[in-house]
Amino acid sequence: MNETLKVIAKRYACRDYKSEMPSDEILQAIAEAGIQAPSGMNRQDWRVIVVKDKELMKDMESEGMSYLASLEGKSAYNRIMDRGGRLFYGAPCMIVVPIDQKQFSSAVLDCGIVCQNIALAATSLGLGNVICGLTGTAFASGLRAEEFSKRLGFPEGYAYGGSILLGYANTVKEPHTPDMDKISFVE
Ligand SMILES: Cc1cc2nc3c(=O)[nH]c(=O)nc-3n(C[C@H](O)[C@H](O)[C@H](O)COP(=O)(O)O)c2cc1C
Repeated sequence: MNETLKVIAKRYACRDYKSEMPSDEILQAIAEAGIQAPSGMNRQDWRVIVVKDKELMKDMESEGMSYLASLEGKSAYNRIMDRGGRLFYGAPCMIVVPIDQKQFSSAVLDCGIVCQNIALAATSLGLGNVICGLTGTAFASGLRAEEFSKRLGFPEGYAYGGSILLGYANTVKEPHTPDMDKISFVE
């Protein structure tokens, strides 16, 4: 296996972080991997926002948990509670990727590719990471979406697209075993 394939095979969803903040140099390198992602028609309708603001993360986390608790279906809420009740698992920082609302359909896929570039770059640099779709719950009730968009510095017309939690792993997990049955060749 070459280095790229090794990093892909090593990545796993990290759900327990140390409080230590990665250096700006590392975070910058990871963010740069994000903006090197391909995008439909090279539109690059995203931003890569590195969030080190603990208060902001705490506020988004508690808004997200309140939103999940308010839902009739409690499966997501219960899953997070079973994992320790922390939407962000103690991660010291995260990257939020807002996307242009006008291009939403293609931007969602583009955003996913940015997130995966970030996840793989973080893995290659020794950081735990997990793509965290549930960060969207902080925006979901609409009550604080505008406030969070402003504090995160979303450009006009951009909305939350995706996020990745980052930090040094407190608990290291084995990557999941890939299901080889998912692969087929047509010849
Ligand atoms: C689009 C997307 C959203 C995700 N959102 C969350 C999330 O909100 N919280 C979480 O703990 N994991 C989240 N994950 C991580 C997945 O649960 C995880 O990738 C999956 O269980 C496979 O495990 P692995 O990443 O260790 O291979 C998300 C993954 C993707 C791709």
